[in-house]
Amino acid sequence: MTDREKSIQNVAVIGAQWGDEGKGKIVDLLCEDFDVVARYQGGHNAGHTVKFADKHFALRLVPSGIIHPDKLCLLGNGMVIDPQALLEEVMGLREAGVVIEDNLLISDSAHCILPYHKALDLAREEAAGVAKIGTTGRGIGPAYESKVGRYGIRIADLVDPDVLKQKIDFTCAERNAVLSGVYKTTTFDPQKLYDDYLRYGEVIAKRIVHGTEWINEQIRAGKRVMFEGAQGTMLDIDHGTYPFVTSSSTIVGGICTGLGVAPKHIHKVIGVGKAYTTRVGGGAFPTELNDEHGEHLRKRGNEFGTVTGRPRRTGWLDLPVLRTAATINGLDEIALTKLDVLDEFDEIPVCVAYNVRGKSWKSFPAFAVAHNDYQPEYRTFKGWKQSTAGITSFDELPQAAQDYVRFLEDETETRASIISTGPRREETILR
Ligand code: IMP
Repeated sequence: MTDREKSIQNVAVIGAQWGDEGKGKIVDLLCEDFDVVARYQGGHNAGHTVKFADKHFALRLVPSGIIHPDKLCLLGNGMVIDPQALLEEVMGLREAGVVIEDNLLISDSAHCILPYHKALDLAREEAAGVAKIGTTGRGIGPAYESKVGRYGIRIADLVDPDVLKQKIDFTCAERNAVLSGVYKTTTFDPQKLYDDYLRYGEVIAKRIVHGTEWINEQIRAGKRVMFEGAQGTMLDIDHGTYPFVTSSSTIVGGICTGLGVAPKHIHKVIGVGKAYTTRVGGGAFPTELNDEHGEHLRKRGNEFGTVTGRPRRTGWLDLPVLRTAATINGLDEIALTKLDVLDEFDEIPVCVAYNVRGKSWKSFPAFAVAHNDYQPEYRTFKGWKQSTAGITSFDELPQAAQDYVRFLEDETETRASIISTGPRREETILR
């Protein structure tokens, strides 16, 4: 072990594309060496799939570390939490045999999603017609709007009846006016919301902590923390393909604000990227395939949303996207997932740059997002045409697959230290 490796205490696992890269498996795989797993943004729009001991867990709000009984899991202040969704998820996990007691903690400063947020999300999407974002319809955007607008309801408010009542009365009246006046849709009874959210507060009260203080205490005590990202770099509110993004900071910087952890405590950043590309919802996707190759990727890669079940859009590997993720997040390593999904192709094109109005771009140019006028420039690799499923050593990969990975490493200047060759934990190459 090098001196640098010895000093690595806390690690971030971040999506390097448009989400659904397979972060759940990577967090689960690495989890053993950590004491705490913390989420710092997003809500139940996320869907992390973990296969463990022949069981299949679909996690939305709760960090993937929860499957391991000895890990402490924190929902950070940067998250937006729908308490009903949280309770349902906890119940489902318990039914599947997962122990959830003092190991799940919720930051008092995280914001709540209320039913009017969800109603607004859905109403806006419907009204937007072809310009719709293709959100998960969970109320994520409107909840972050309430937060930034400074009238959001925080987890701490759920156990403070007077504050809760006053906040719900104020915000509900305003949101109801928009729902009925602008969108001609159903409104909400503030008294019922108050009763429901007070009850949620009672149920989760024992899990609420001063999140920032708690996590910094863990770090000071020498506990190892894994920061679990949701969604991906290209869905980041600032750096993604705006406005076809989610409403939070999905990138490494989100950890500092979404947990109250200083940059010096983030010692390593692992970007998770698929060996090809997918996205759900609308927005630019330069390497998208609307042909039988795209269908093959979707079927073989089982590219259907964990949360919504929507078929994902599929396309070839996009290096400008990965380079952008490597730069913005300062990636130390890449975890490359689903390499085996490419096993049957004769040829595998990789996008090395975009041509946008006569100029070549090696990273994602923000100005072109609005116009979606990218011409991907491809370099085509020979397919390996043999199974890589379950391979656990890099040397055992066919030469063409090794060449594919090495090219990606050279182009992103980042080592692919983990390569996943199947959904199970053991179907992994660790280099
Ligand atoms: P929202 O986060 O529900 O507001 O959705 C905004 C955009 O982010 C949509 O294109 C969603 O499909 C996408 N999105 C949100 N969460 C995920 C995720 O976990 N994986 C992939 N895409 C996501």
